Amino acid sequence: MSVTVDGGERLCLARVGGEVFAVRDQCSHAEYPLSDGSLGSDYQLECALHGAVFDVRDGSVKSPPADEPVATYPVKLESGWIWVGIPQGE
Ligand code: FES
Repeated sequence: MSVTVDGGERLCLARVGGEVFAVRDQCSHAEYPLSDGSLGSDYQLECALHGAVFDVRDGSVKSPPADEPVATYPVKLESGWIWVGIPQGE
């Protein structure tokens, strides 16, 4: 799921089991939206354009062609709400 927060940043929210993770909704390879990709139960998110794979827990690259991680943001679930920590200035 893609959401846009104040300031225009697009985030990809990824749910694995009962956990939710937030990564920048932009592949580090060619800036394609990661929210269009596919998410596995192993926390791996595959970009739909060229197939790079990222771990949604820390944004690390698990498979090329991407060679740079994607930004991740802290998430807190509370009373049915999803809170995402966005650093000031991003
Ligand atoms: S844009 Fe994601 S792998 Fe190329």
